[in-house]
Amino acid sequence: MRILGTGSALPKRVVTNDELTQFLDTSDEWIKTRTGISTRRVITTETLEELGAQAAKNALENAGLSANDLDLIICSTVQGDQITPALGCLIQRAIGAKCPAFDLNAACPGFEYALDVAESYIASGRARNILVVSSESVSYLCNWTDRSTCVLFGDGAGAAVVGQGGDYLSSHFVCEGGDEVLRAPMPNGNSPFTQRPVSWSGLYMNGPEVYKFAVAGSIRDIRTVVEQAGITMDEVGHFVLHQANLRIIEAVRTRLKQPKEKFPHNIEHYGNTSSASVPILLDELNRAGALQKGEIVVLSAFGAGLCTGACAIRWSK
Ligand code: UT7
Repeated sequence: MRILGTGSALPKRVVTNDELTQFLDTSDEWIKTRTGISTRRVITTETLEELGAQAAKNALENAGLSANDLDLIICSTVQGDQITPALGCLIQRAIGAKCPAFDLNAACPGFEYALDVAESYIASGRARNILVVSSESVSYLCNWTDRSTCVLFGDGAGAAVVGQGGDYLSSHFVCEGGDEVLRAPMPNGNSPFTQRPVSWSGLYMNGPEVYKFAVAGSIRDIRTVVEQAGITMDEVGHFVLHQANLRIIEAVRTRLKQPKEKFPHNIEHYGNTSSASVPILLDELNRAGALQKGEIVVLSAFGAGLCTGACAIRWSK
């Protein structure tokens, strides 16, 4: 597999930390020092279909391909605009593609899981060009009265078009199944037979527990994919981490003894956009010309499941 092009799209509405203080007992200072976040983008009128389709079109253009060239669309999302049809099917229609499409939900590491599935399709010869697109709206899942979670997240979409090549060097995935420390429950329907509690509580996260899982998991996964790729940590050009907390990125970086320049971040502008965060950052780096041809890029993400995923890719664009 090889990355042929990247794209991203964000909602227009910028929400500052100060705006959140108008309805939450929080402060710009707390949010900045604990997370690194200054602003996030939040959906107002946009749909996840529109954001995902825009990111996909940008990635196709960057790859020099059209929607007709796609053999498959894999869409990573925690929850699309609708529970069914799958968001990937709506993005397929919106970009005018004719290929099969499906959704994959692996929470924040969903983009890495989707890339891994794409690699299998390409390696087995069942597809030549695949669109991997993450489109996420955590603002729909959050309880906006819970200051410990809603300040952390944002909405957005990121995409990559992948084709045939030998750039996917290694990958590693871990799942420690459970919903005790991170979950976003389904809203209740109106079944007269339900015995589920009637109130909707929104996304719940035990931040410190997820923090520990994230730092340890990301370090373990990065070490594993670097070793499997047969390279040293110093030979990696960039580490593109899930943008959940600047302190997590810094903790991973310092324990791996790597310089700051190798751990780019944009969490200050967008917050945590779930599985869209890695492809949005990858697209920014690609478009800024920050990735050298031939360098190794390591992607690493973690989140609900609890799941982690990482891969090492040679950047040959
Ligand atoms: O993408 C999914 C993966 N998610 C993550 O990776 C998130 C991982 N966790 C984290 O990033 C951090 O744990 C948080 C940013 C969520 C929280 O930071 P923390 O340093 O672990 O803070 P804490 O949860 O231990 O809370 C410290 C204090 C508490 O007050 P007390 O009990 O010490 O008096 C909280 O009530 O901060 C309080 N607090 C807030 N204060 C002002 C929690 N949220 C806020 C807030 N504004 N928004």
